[in-house]
Amino acid sequence: MENDELRAKFLERYGESEEAIHHYFAPGRVNLIGEHIDYNGGHVLPAAIGMGVHMMLRADDSSQLRIASTLDDIEHRFSVEEALALEASGQWYDYVLGVLQELHRRGVPVSGADILLDSDLPIGAGLSSSAAVEVVTAYAVMRMANHPVDRRELAILCQLVENRHVGVNCGIMDQYAVANGKAGHAMLLDCDAIESEYIPVDLGDYQLLILHTNKPRKLVESKYNERRAECDQALAILGAQREISYLCEAEFEELELVSDPVIKRRLRHVITEEWRVLLSVEALKSGEIEQFGQLLTASHSSLRDDYEVSGDELDALVDLSLDWKGCIGARMTGAGFGGCAIALIHRDSVKGFAEYLKEGYEARTGLMAGVYETVISDGVVLVDG
Ligand code: GLA
Repeated sequence: MENDELRAKFLERYGESEEAIHHYFAPGRVNLIGEHIDYNGGHVLPAAIGMGVHMMLRADDSSQLRIASTLDDIEHRFSVEEALALEASGQWYDYVLGVLQELHRRGVPVSGADILLDSDLPIGAGLSSSAAVEVVTAYAVMRMANHPVDRRELAILCQLVENRHVGVNCGIMDQYAVANGKAGHAMLLDCDAIESEYIPVDLGDYQLLILHTNKPRKLVESKYNERRAECDQALAILGAQREISYLCEAEFEELELVSDPVIKRRLRHVITEEWRVLLSVEALKSGEIEQFGQLLTASHSSLRDDYEVSGDELDALVDLSLDWKGCIGARMTGAGFGGCAIALIHRDSVKGFAEYLKEGYEARTGLMAGVYETVISDGVVLVDG
C-alpha cells in the first residue's frame, strides 16, 4: 500500500493524535543460490526484493500497545508489561512481541504505541515475510528510541527471536538479507563470520522472475529440523576424524567417510552447493550469465535429489521453465516443500513465458502459479516520518 493510503487506514483505525506517525518498510528476500547451507557455516547469495512489509508506528507515553494488520483487520491490545511477558502462541504478532522483548532485555526502552502492518508479499510464499516483520519492528523501535542501529547486529537479534521466541530453528540468511539489502546487488554472505560483500546483479538480456507454487507450505518446519539434524550427524562423523566446526568446511573426499546413503547425499549437497555459490559469484562478476543460469539449475537438481527438499510443484515450475527456449536456469529458492522458485528468462519473452508457465503449471498440478518480476532493492528503511 502507498504511504498516503496506509496513513489514512492508520488514522481511520486509531484516530488523530499529537504524536508523529512513522512509516517503515522491510523487504522480503529471494535467495539466488546457496540453499540450506547458512546453518552449515557456508556462503549464500540472497537479495532483498521490492515486495515486503510496511509498518506504520506512532509511539506515545501511554503503556498500551495496539497492533493490527491490514490483512485480517483484527486489532490486538496489550499493556506494555503484558507484551513483554507473553510467550509465542502461533500468531503473526509473535514476531513483533518477540522483538520487543529482546530489545527490552538489551535495555532499549519500549513505550506504548499504535502499530499497523501491511504486506504485499504473497502469503506463505517463503519470501521471508516473518524476517521482514521482525526486522521492521526492531529497526523502527530502535530508531524511535534514538538507539544506534547496526544492521548486522539487528539481523542477529532477529534471528535469535525467531530461534528462541518463535521456536523456528532458522539460519541467519533471511534476517541478514532483509536488514542489509542494497538495490541492484546480492549479498555474498559468509554465514560463519556473518560478513558480506555486495555483488552487483547485472543479468544483461535476462530477467529474474519469482515463480510462486501457491502450494500451502506444510511440514516445512519439521522437515527443516530433520535436515538440520542430518547435517549434525554428518558433522559428528567427520568430527570423529578431525577438527571441523561447520559442515561447509568438509572436503569432497570426506564423503567416503559416510556410509549411510541418506547422510551421504545430504553432505554431498552441502559440499557442492558451497562450490556453486562461489562459482556463481565469479560468473556474475565476469558477466557470464549463462554459466550462472547453469549453476542455478544444478543447485535445483542437488536440492531435489540429494537434499530432498523440493516437491512436485516446485519441480513442475522448474521443469516447465527449463523447457522454455528463453530460459537459461531455474531453481527452487528458500526452505523448499512449496514456496517459490526463480528463473532467468530472456527479457523479450517474459510475457509469453508467464502465460505459458501458468497454463502448463495448472495442467500439471491443478494450481495457479504466481509470476513476479524481481526488483532487487534496499534493506529496511524509514519511508516517511
Ligand atoms: C529458510 C531459513 C534460512 C535458510 C533457508 C534455506 O529460509 O530461514 O535460514 O536456511 O530456509 O536455505
